[in-house]
This record gives sequence, C-alpha cells and structure tokens, in this order.
Amino acid sequence: MASSTTPPPPSLQALSLASPAPSPPPSPPPRPPPAAETIRYERYAGEQDIPKIMDLVDTELSEPYNYYTYRYFLNDWPNLCFMAYAGDLAVGTIVCKQEVHRDKLNRGYLAMLSTREAYRGKGVATHLVRLAITEMVSYSCEEVVLETEADNASALRFYRKLGFIKEKRLYRFYLNAKDAYRLKLPLGTGDEVRRSRAKAEMEKALQEGMAPAVASKA
Ligand SMILES: CC(C)(COP(=O)(O)OP(=O)(O)OC[C@H]1O[C@@H](n2cnc3c(N)ncnc32)[C@H](O)[C@@H]1OP(=O)(O)O)[C@@H](O)C(=O)NCCC(=O)NCCS
Repeated sequence: MASSTTPPPPSLQALSLASPAPSPPPSPPPRPPPAAETIRYERYAGEQDIPKIMDLVDTELSEPYNYYTYRYFLNDWPNLCFMAYAGDLAVGTIVCKQEVHRDKLNRGYLAMLSTREAYRGKGVATHLVRLAITEMVSYSCEEVVLETEADNASALRFYRKLGFIKEKRLYRFYLNAKDAYRLKLPLGTGDEVRRSRAKAEMEKALQEGMAPAVASKA
C-alpha cells in the first residue's frame, strides 16, 4: 500500500487546484563514477606467461619476434620481466635484459614494452618501467638503453617524460626498414646503499602496487 506522503501521480497533480501539490521527493544523489579498475603488478611467473606476453607485444610492435626471442630474454632475465593485470587479463608487460657492455658498463636493455590499448594513459607503462629499472639498479646497473621507431611519437614522448635522452639515430634499423632512435637513461654508479634501497623499494612497490621512482641521475 502507498504511504500517505507518496505524491499523486503527475496527471492528478496537474488537476489538483485546491491545494498545492507536495514537492517531489529529492532526486537521489548522482552515482559516483565506477571505481578505477585496480591494476596489479606481478613478476614474470614462468613459461605460462609467454603466450600472454606474446599477445601483448605481437599486436603492438612492428618487429616480429619468434618464441625463441622471448625465451632468450625470459629464461636468462626472468627478474626483468613484469606483468600488469586487470583482474585476470594481462594489460601490460615489460621484457628486459642486463649485461656488462664492452667489459665495463653494466647496462640494462629494455627490449619490449606494451600496454593494451584500452588501458593506456593510466600510468601502466610508467609503473612497469619503474619496476624494471628499480630491479636493474638493485643489480648495479649504470645505464638503460632501448630502441624505438623514429616515428613512434607516443613512445618517444613517453620515454622523454621518464628522463631518457636520444643517443643516436639508427638508419633502417628494423626489418620494415624504418629508422630507430637509441635512447639512454644514465643511472649512476650503483653503490651498495642505492642498491639495497632499490631492492626495498621494489618489494614495497610489488606488495602495495606503488610505483618506485625512477632512479635516474638526471
Ligand atoms: C608507449 C606505451 C607503452 C605507453 O603506455 P601507457 O601505459 O599508455 O603509458 P603511461 O600511461 O604510463 O604514459 C605516461 C606518459 O607517456 C606519455 N604518453 C603515453 N602515451 C602517449 C601518447 N599516445 N601520446 C602522447 N604521449 C603519450 C605521456 O606523457 C604520459 O603521461 P601523461 O598521461 O601524464 O600525459 C603504449 O602507448 C604502447 O603500448 N604503445 C605500443 C607499443 C609501443 O610503442 N611500445 C614502446 C616501444 S618499445
């Protein structure tokens, strides 16, 4: 049964001349926007992640990589691969390596980075790069390099924002004959204090979903 405070239907309100119609009930407050989807960051968990990584990378990067290229990076440097998930869906990945260059420079190399299109612009790639670089710093890395297509404006802007600088242009670098830019991020000397701080930041970042700061000298 309707309560006595229920306003009459609109058609009756319009006909009621004797007494003013009761004011309509206040409209419900606007619904808050849906909570931002939580992105979870995880370390590479093993071979079972390779198809997810391939799915993210193959659709986005022009350079074709075969299974063995992925294995080359992931078997030797599993600690330098991270995944971003929205629920069960892999939405981002970074694949890197780290080795001593020309017998003297401990250098990190960022091989693949991709964020699923619907999840771009939310800081996913920034977080992935920071996780990888923090891990590199904890292993005394002194600089990070990468190549990206010379006409990939969004990637160039993305890396510039993180402090990478253009080192050189590589002509017809890719199989599709496009030029690349080699980009570089100097990191400093990697002393013990910095390394242990980076390790602690790393664990905290993975536990709390926070992005560690890029440990650049710049
Ligand atoms: C480049 C790429 C990895 C960026 O991923 P993302 O998760 O959207 O990046 P973020 O949200 O962390 O972006 C951080 C900053 O990068 C810059 N940036 C990212 N995408 C950009 C775009 N399309 N245009 C201009 N600037 C862009 C912005 O400055 C942005 O900061 P802001 O949002 O505060 O302006 C993603 O566009 C991608 O996967 N591209 C295809 C694969 C690729 O090109 N990989 C890199 C080559 S190795």
